Amino acid sequence: MVMTVIGNRPQFVKAAAVSAHLRERASETLVHTGQHYDPELSDVFFEQLEMPTPDRELGIGSGSHAEQTAAILTRLEPLVAELEPDALLVYGDTNSTLGGALVAAKASLPLAHVEAGMRSGDRAMPEEINRLVVDSLGGLLLCSTDTALQNLRDEGRGEQAVVTGDVMADIALAFGPIADERSDVLERLELEPRGFIVATAHRPGNVDDPQRLGSLVEVLRLAARTAPVVFPVHPRTRSRLEEVGALEGLREAGITAVEPLGYLDVTRLVRTARAVITDSGGLQKEAFLASVPCLTMRAETEWVETVESGWNRLVGLRPQAVESALAELPEPGDQSPAAEIYGGGQAGERVAAAIADWLTR
Ligand code: UD1
Repeated sequence: MVMTVIGNRPQFVKAAAVSAHLRERASETLVHTGQHYDPELSDVFFEQLEMPTPDRELGIGSGSHAEQTAAILTRLEPLVAELEPDALLVYGDTNSTLGGALVAAKASLPLAHVEAGMRSGDRAMPEEINRLVVDSLGGLLLCSTDTALQNLRDEGRGEQAVVTGDVMADIALAFGPIADERSDVLERLELEPRGFIVATAHRPGNVDDPQRLGSLVEVLRLAARTAPVVFPVHPRTRSRLEEVGALEGLREAGITAVEPLGYLDVTRLVRTARAVITDSGGLQKEAFLASVPCLTMRAETEWVETVESGWNRLVGLRPQAVESALAELPEPGDQSPAAEIYGGGQAGERVAAAIADWLTR
């Protein structure tokens, strides 16, 4: 039995791409750490992506990095002792990924990591620390891209690595047309296709410091001069904006702040937007796969292919860079043939096959 540990919004999407394929080859126990617990950050993803409900919930909730990681360690360790899995599977780079990996390593349990080898080179990002630790512990490192494989080779971890393509891309490709059909978000928010910009921000580096948060608001205001901005607000960002009283002023600038949206609504928004402006890794990729231009509010990206292809520009929180990127937006187009870079929709199957093969070794 493979024990899969997930806990955050993007991990629900990633596991949805793998779970069904994995269950054709091995039994799976799905453990939800509870790092994300709000229905709109958690339940709605399981429903819309037709995911099996978690077998166990650890209920760790919010807290500091130490609190979250410690809670996972203390609650997951006895579960591993009780259920005796053959291997543990983790996704991405969050505290849930880190907690799962540490428990596996201490229990001498084989550890597989999906989305291994992603690097930003910025150790001030909590996710970068999580990636480095998890990849140094994993026995099977499943890479989304050749860039990720090369990063692991550079760290002497190439032996454990295999390129599978990107599992999140599987879901974006499979659910894109479903979102177009089922989501009524454009009608609800009264948006014209290609007549709006969709914005998201949640990185601690962008929202926790009041000065940086001020620059972020300025960037959104600039974007709103090009087209109305729809801004589904992550809870972390909402509370920071409320603290400095900035939420009120957004509407006057043409920015519509809404609650976090489900997968189908966000997917439809991204696919029909004039442009995306974000600090999320997932959205950079989803915009690329839909051939929608993206402005990334970071100094670097793990998804370098999106930048090299011209669909993504790294603008940070620099008004001048934002202005020139907005002035030079490429025209959105049909589904990109470049989808192949990320595995062409077959990554989940390849991940499941690689895990099954590894377990019999
Ligand atoms: C986490 C991940 C990040 C990932 C993101 C996806 C880490 C270090 N970071 O960041 O890599 O991109 O998830 O969204 O693991 N909150 C709620 N309801 C919830 C969950 C959180 O209101 O269901 C609030 C809490 O006040 C919490 C804050 O949001 O303090 C931040 O949540 P947290 O889990 O600490 O990290 P994220 O910013 O979501």
